[in-house]
Amino acid sequence: MSILLCPVCGEKLNRIDSSFCCKSGHSFDMAKEGYVNLLLGSKPGDSRGDSKESARARHEFLQKGYYDCLKVAIGERLSGTVLDICCGEGYYDDYDGPFYGFDISKEMVRLASKRNKSDNYHYFVANLSSIPIESESIDTAMHLFAPFQENEFSRILKPDGVLYSVIPGENHLFEMKEILYENPYKNDEKAPETTGALILQDTTKVAEKVTITGEDLWTLFSMTPYFYRTSEEDKAKLKATKSLDLTVEFVILKYVKH
Ligand SMILES: C[S@@+](CC[C@H](N)C(=O)[O-])C[C@H]1O[C@@H](n2cnc3c(N)ncnc32)[C@H](O)[C@@H]1O
Ligand SMILES: [Zn+2]
Repeated sequence: MSILLCPVCGEKLNRIDSSFCCKSGHSFDMAKEGYVNLLLGSKPGDSRGDSKESARARHEFLQKGYYDCLKVAIGERLSGTVLDICCGEGYYDDYDGPFYGFDISKEMVRLASKRNKSDNYHYFVANLSSIPIESESIDTAMHLFAPFQENEFSRILKPDGVLYSVIPGENHLFEMKEILYENPYKNDEKAPETTGALILQDTTKVAEKVTITGEDLWTLFSMTPYFYRTSEEDKAKLKATKSLDLTVEFVILKYVKH
């Protein structure tokens, strides 16, 4: 039984062959990769969220394993029916049970469906401000480096459901910032504030030192917000760096439903 909802009328969607249909007759075809686009108003060729180029850059970087410590730590926390909110290219989606994942970027969802092909994975294109999933249907939601929407996340969780939200740790990529800036600052590790629908219950840090080589370092840099705020002169310092021992540090915030 699907927990997906029709984005037009909010009725349940049922899978019939390679389409998802509601009883009011709205129908959404599955793409050949196996995902379904439930984002209203999107036309063929439309791209919202991250671009194709940045999707590919993330894909290439992540598959080299530099963030594996986070993948392992998240994997250990998954149980029941799982939802990856803003799944990106599905790198962290390693699970045997019922698994749903969505992103607003069709290219990201396409890559995620190609990566994770087993029948337990269900990917769809959607906006996190209106997740086309039944209320109280998810045991574990994961949410990595993406915008936060307390009420919508709380709505889709079962009464004892849990949300794991990940933000960068204070020392994340610090050695890269030391090369780029005279006075590098640490990340503020500010957990998204909640108003009561979700309660922050626990905080865990996951960190590792990885050795990263020239081209990968540049790809990683291009994925960060620093890329757009750094002068050409400072960028050149990083370009000249052949290899770097770099801290990757993440904070896993455990929110429970109130
Ligand atoms: C920094 S990426 C993280 C992706 C993935 N969680 C990961 O860690 O690899 C942020 C993602 O959020 C998605 N995104 C941004 N705004 C969104 C929205 N309103 N609804 C759904 N996805 C959104 C982007 O398309 C992008 O894939
Ligand atoms: Zn409908």
